[in-house]
Amino acid sequence: MNTHSSAVPQEAPTDVHTDHVALLMDGVKDTEDSTARAARSTVLTPRFYTTDFKAMDALDVSPVRAEWDRMMAEYAGDNNQDHFKRDEAFGEELKVLMPQLSPELRQEFIDFLISSCTSEFSGCILYNEIRKNIDNPDIKQLMAYMARDESRHAGFINQSLKDFGLGIDLGNLRKVKAYTYFKPKYIFYATYLSEKIGYARYITIFRQLERHPDKRFHPIFRWFERWCNDEFRHGESFALMMRAQPHLLSGLNRLWIRFFILAVYATMYVRDHSRPLLHEAMGLHSTEYDYEVFRITSEICRQVFPVEVDIDHPVFRQCMDRLLSISLDNDRAVARGGWVGTVLRGWHAARAVLTFGRLYLLPVKKHDLPENIRLDPVW
Ligand SMILES: [Fe+2]
Ligand SMILES: [Fe+2]
Repeated sequence: MNTHSSAVPQEAPTDVHTDHVALLMDGVKDTEDSTARAARSTVLTPRFYTTDFKAMDALDVSPVRAEWDRMMAEYAGDNNQDHFKRDEAFGEELKVLMPQLSPELRQEFIDFLISSCTSEFSGCILYNEIRKNIDNPDIKQLMAYMARDESRHAGFINQSLKDFGLGIDLGNLRKVKAYTYFKPKYIFYATYLSEKIGYARYITIFRQLERHPDKRFHPIFRWFERWCNDEFRHGESFALMMRAQPHLLSGLNRLWIRFFILAVYATMYVRDHSRPLLHEAMGLHSTEYDYEVFRITSEICRQVFPVEVDIDHPVFRQCMDRLLSISLDNDRAVARGGWVGTVLRGWHAARAVLTFGRLYLLPVKKHDLPENIRLDPVW
């Protein structure tokens, strides 16, 4: 069995440095400030990616041709073309609901919007860059469709930031934010997971507010149902691209899959717990919300990943909570500063690596991949 340290890709972040608590306490002041926040790169903030375009160009989807063509027809049909526009009720609801937000909830909601907008825009940039740098007609067309969707998503969230006077300058963000290089293999695992987890997050919020409309403190949540179907389809695209390259889903690569699942889950868990009021306002607890998202994501991932982490294992739960408390200790070390702060941060980073290693070594569930790859968004 591999160990955590040898499983960490060199490009992957390995420290747990984060300043989200300090940032939250600060509050965002203006557009410049929200763009600067979106441009920050920590382990917990969404990143911008670039990859090996030649390898993307060489991708052959003929092993999954029938399912591929059906999916491309769905993209061409563009059933969300009219979705990302505000209706009249949006403005009316906004007028009633905005003054009711407490300053603390307002701050967490803004933080949520900035991080969601950055991650939508990150997809838009990556897909656009791939599209521009390849000739392969299948992949080029797919990337154009996905970039179209992500740009609508980012733009729609940005409108809500503008209501607070805090819209992100996306053109500038594209220039100033650092890009992380990921091999195509890592792009497939990480992006597939982030699209599917994005679907699970949006649908879980939508279903909760559908049951409790009185807890819908902003009209944007009404848009999440049709929205998350785009994310679901993006995930389907990566599922097909991976199933067309079976070596990505077998042998030693199963260790990478396990690594990426855990890294994505742990990041989400720590980040979501920095916004307890946001979930509370929706009538959810961050832990319960995250485990629902893990459950849906794990179920979906069976279409493509031959291994599944055991989210109900008591040690899994302990380790997630430990990573959260290490992250908070680290925030305090950052706030403290000086050489003591630096030493403490090193110590917390080592604790985080050990905890992640423990998570990594937990037994996983194994299964065969289904013959029919495509799934419907039925959650
Ligand atoms: Fe999106
Ligand atoms: Fe997406």
